[in-house]
Amino acid sequence: MQRVLVSAPAKVNLGLRVGGPRPDGFHPLDTVFEALDIFDDVEVTPADELSLEFTSPDRSIDVAELPVDGSNLAMRAAHELLRRRGLLGSADAPGARIKITKRIPIAGGMAGGSADAAGTLVALNKLWDLGFSDHDLEHIAADLGSDVPFALKGSIAHGQGRGEHLHEVPVMAIHGWVLLTRSDGLSTPEVFREFDRLNPDAGEPASTVELREALSSGTLADVAAAMVNDLEQPAVSLNPELGHVLVQVRADGHAAILSGSGPTVAVLTEPATLRALAAELAARYPDTQVITAYGPAPGAHIRED
Ligand code: C5P
Repeated sequence: MQRVLVSAPAKVNLGLRVGGPRPDGFHPLDTVFEALDIFDDVEVTPADELSLEFTSPDRSIDVAELPVDGSNLAMRAAHELLRRRGLLGSADAPGARIKITKRIPIAGGMAGGSADAAGTLVALNKLWDLGFSDHDLEHIAADLGSDVPFALKGSIAHGQGRGEHLHEVPVMAIHGWVLLTRSDGLSTPEVFREFDRLNPDAGEPASTVELREALSSGTLADVAAAMVNDLEQPAVSLNPELGHVLVQVRADGHAAILSGSGPTVAVLTEPATLRALAAELAARYPDTQVITAYGPAPGAHIRED
C-alpha cells in the first residue's frame, strides 16, 4: 500500500444536554450529533518514522498553532493502533508520514481534532494492514476522545455516556448550515468547568427526545424549535461577545445554536435558502468568517482518488 487518503467530517450538536460531573470528571451527555460536509483530509504514506504535518487551503486556519508531537490526537491515534498490536516502541513498528489538510475550524466546537484522529485510525489501519474491524476502531476511538467515535460513524446519531455511546437517528431530510466562526476559540474543558460553576446542583442530563422526534417526523421548524445546548450559557459567560451574536441572529428570526462548546454559531436552514442566508449573514457580520455546509455527511471514509 503506497498511499491512503481518508476524509473525516466536522460536526454540530443539534442538541446537547449536560449533567453534573461524574467521578471521572467527565460530564454525562444526552446529545444529537450531525456530521457536516466540511472534511479534513488525512493522507498517509509509508515512511521510516512516524510524523505529522498540517496544511490548509483556507488562510483563516492557522495550522502553525497545532502541535505535531505525541500530544496531537491524530498522533495519539497512531500510537494507540501500534500499542494494541504490541508494536509501540518496537524496532518492528511501521512508520508513516501523516499529512492532514485542515478545513474544519480549529477550536471551534466542531470536533476537528476528533475528525483528524478518526481519519488517522481508518487510514493507518489500511496502510499498515492491521486488520482492526469497524467495531475495534470504535472502541479505540472512544478511548481517544468523546467525539472521536461519532467522527468515525457520521450521519446523525444520538450520543450518551460522555458522547461515545452512539445510536443512529434515521435521516429524513438534508439540512443547510451557515457557520459563523470566530478566531477567539474556546477551550472545551474550560467551558465544562464554567458549566459546573453555573450549575453546581446539576444531576442527570435532560433528554433530547423531543429533538429526535422532530428529526424523525417533524418539519425543519420543529427541529429548529427543539435545538438546545446546555453549554451555551457557560460559553457566553466566558465570551460575552458570542452572546451578542446569538441574540442578534435569533432576533433576525434565524434558527441559531452554539456548536458543541463553541464558539462557532451554527444556523439551520432549508438547503434551498442556504446561499441567500449565507450572503445575508456575511453582510450583517463582515468581521466574521461565514462557511456553508450540508448535513448529514458520512463518517471517516477512504477516498478512491
Ligand atoms: O473527551 P475529550 O478528550 O474530547 O474531552 C475534552 C475535555 O472536555 C475533557 O477533558 C473534559 O474536560 C471535557 N469533557 C467533559 N465531559 C464530556 C466530554 C468532554 O467534561 N462528556
